[in-house]
Amino acid sequence: MTPAPALAPGTTFAIVGAGRLGTVLAGALRAAGFDVRGPFRSAEAIPETDIAILAVPDAAIPDAARNAHAKKRAHLSGATALDAVDFSIHPLQTFTGTEPPEVFHGIGAAVDGRTDDDRQLAKDLARALGMTPFTVTDRATYHAAASFASNFVLTVLDAAEQFATAAGVENPREILAPLVRQSVENWQRSGARASLTGPIARGDEATVARQREAADDKVLFDALAAATRALKDRA
Ligand SMILES: NC(=O)c1ccc[n+]([C@@H]2O[C@H](COP(=O)([O-])OP(=O)(O)OC[C@H]3O[C@@H](n4cnc5c(N)ncnc54)[C@H](OP(=O)(O)O)[C@@H]3O)[C@@H](O)[C@H]2O)c1
Repeated sequence: MTPAPALAPGTTFAIVGAGRLGTVLAGALRAAGFDVRGPFRSAEAIPETDIAILAVPDAAIPDAARNAHAKKRAHLSGATALDAVDFSIHPLQTFTGTEPPEVFHGIGAAVDGRTDDDRQLAKDLARALGMTPFTVTDRATYHAAASFASNFVLTVLDAAEQFATAAGVENPREILAPLVRQSVENWQRSGARASLTGPIARGDEATVARQREAADDKVLFDALAAATRALKDRA
């Protein structure tokens, strides 16, 4: 088993995958003083380095791991096991590919490793980029939490935008954003149940019924209303 290379300014990295996260991560590692090659696209040859970071879709991780020649391989996936790599770092943030290196500062990163040394390497690397490393007991459940906190929130916000547009609001995102921000701040401070306001929290089912009449997507409305009633009634 290859010993984990200690992190130093001279540590060499290959970033495999020039997509959303690979591009931003390469810039951040360079800004942190590391020697970074790439990010490399699918057909490109990958040079030998100390660490290869596989910034590829989850299904491509085994293939990318085979093509990477490095002392240690890591992936960035929240849900994938460590079968094809030595360690993993999942930055708990959403990346579109245009973020500056500072995007990693202050965020969490779920880390794991095959050995204690690999886990330590993952933690050291997360900290070197300004992230706070943490561990999870179940990757799939953890990744579902991330999807609820980001992907599903966007689905709900898109529905809100469509309602506001249908109601004649000209700049729905600008008008709704302060409400969204305050709700997130209240949730962060006190949790969802204590932060719940509105007709369901007040038991005003007549108003909820009028909202439902106006909703195009009654499946989404009913699912969210039922979940919100359950939240209100939670002990
Ligand atoms: N984006 C995020 O917000 C985010 C957040 C946390 C973690 N992650 C994790 O980061 C990883 C990458 O996600 P992403 O959002 O950056 O994906 P992405 O934007 O789809 O980029 C993936 C890149 O991998 C390349 N690729 C595919 N197969 C390859 C191979 N065998 N060898 C080399 N390159 C290959 C693709 O290029 P081609 O099109 O040329 O094949 C593409 O540029 C995933 O594990 C994901 O779970 C992403």
